[in-house]
Amino acid sequence: MPITIVVGMQWGDEGKGRVVDLFSENTDIVARYNGGDNAGHTVTVGSEIFKLHLIPSGIIHPHTVCVLGNGVVLNPATLLEEMEMLGSAGIAITPERLWISDTAHLITPAHRLLDRAREAALGKAQIGTTGRGIGPAYMDKTARKGLRCGDLLDMVTFQLRVKQHFEEASGQLTALYHQPAVETSPLAEEFLAQAAQLIPFIRPVGARIRHALSQGQSILAEGAQGTLLDLDQGSYPFVTSSCTTAAGVFSGLGIGICPIERVVGITKAFQTRVGGGPFPTELQGETAAFLRGTGANPWDEYGTTTGRPRRVGWLDLVLLKYAVEINGATELFLTKLDVLSGLDEIFVCTGYQREGAAIRQADFSAEAGFLEQCKPIYEAVPGWREDLRSLRKWEELPDQAAAYIKFVEESCGIPVTHISVGPERSAVITRE
Ligand code: IMP
Repeated sequence: MPITIVVGMQWGDEGKGRVVDLFSENTDIVARYNGGDNAGHTVTVGSEIFKLHLIPSGIIHPHTVCVLGNGVVLNPATLLEEMEMLGSAGIAITPERLWISDTAHLITPAHRLLDRAREAALGKAQIGTTGRGIGPAYMDKTARKGLRCGDLLDMVTFQLRVKQHFEEASGQLTALYHQPAVETSPLAEEFLAQAAQLIPFIRPVGARIRHALSQGQSILAEGAQGTLLDLDQGSYPFVTSSCTTAAGVFSGLGIGICPIERVVGITKAFQTRVGGGPFPTELQGETAAFLRGTGANPWDEYGTTTGRPRRVGWLDLVLLKYAVEINGATELFLTKLDVLSGLDEIFVCTGYQREGAAIRQADFSAEAGFLEQCKPIYEAVPGWREDLRSLRKWEELPDQAAAYIKFVEESCGIPVTHISVGPERSAVITRE
């Protein structure tokens, strides 16, 4: 089956947006299968920078159909803003080009309020969520009382359910989180008006994709967040509330299990994380500031969704190998190699010690309690001084940079097929 999956190998922000943009050139349908507007994808095309939270970055190519699958939770306000932003850049979003699954769940302003209230109540144990209402929306989904896009097609019943939803949320905010009572009617009305604008885009997406596949069309499945934020396989409880791994494609788009052509794992040449939770190779001080950047450039390590400075650290090959296994990744796309230019030595985590003993991959768990007890074992490799941003061929890379990449692929057992060396769309080295 002509399906390619693009999936994050770390804690999100690996650069999936630019990869999806690149691969979309040869794809018919680009489909998001998980998460919501907690994601932030930045794509640089010439002097234009697109920051997308929901619509797949494949939308920038005029021939693609973009899909928000049933695994997605969707905030109508964000989606409408994004449509407007794209429209003013000359990219019209029509129902022919954007399909929204009838079984995708909606995020309401009440979900956002609950998300923030729960975080505040957790105090020091905060997850550090994006505050976008993701957790509460998925909670309503699993509690079987969520509002789905298809429900919009019966507006009378939908209005009643929205009213109930806001009243219940308001009760929770005051009873559980001791928040002042919220005037819910204006919020509900605004939400209804925004949600109604999505009606022309709502489709039985699973059926459409299965049909497209039977016709030989190609699908690019775009994961949001990263493997280590997966609800089951990530550093629980410091995770998001969806299935971020490649396995989520089948349930998140409504297609049957079938052979996948390529599972492209996206990893930075170092490691970043936003929000709380363990980070064994985290750095502080000068090297951290060097990797993070000052924030003056849109590609520096500050969250696209929240603007928070990202935590940074050395590349962790224990976690990367785990992500390769969990996703069945067939190749790696290494991003931001250019950021490492200027370091004399680069450190790579090649193993962990826990309670004085080395951990075998077979005993490994990404669960937070386990990871917190792990001490990284590092190997130092030589760095390089050259600026890589203008390079487009493998042979042009400094020897030390090529050796770094080979070290990564030998450790993970799969090839690094692409390397990005700058934010611009064309700043990619593709290996034959
Ligand atoms: P939530 O998804 O907003 O509930 O946040 C849960 C955790 O996932 C927090 O640590 C967030 O910082 C993190 N997170 C969610 N989405 C992203 C993302 O797109 N990139 C990086 N981290 C994310």
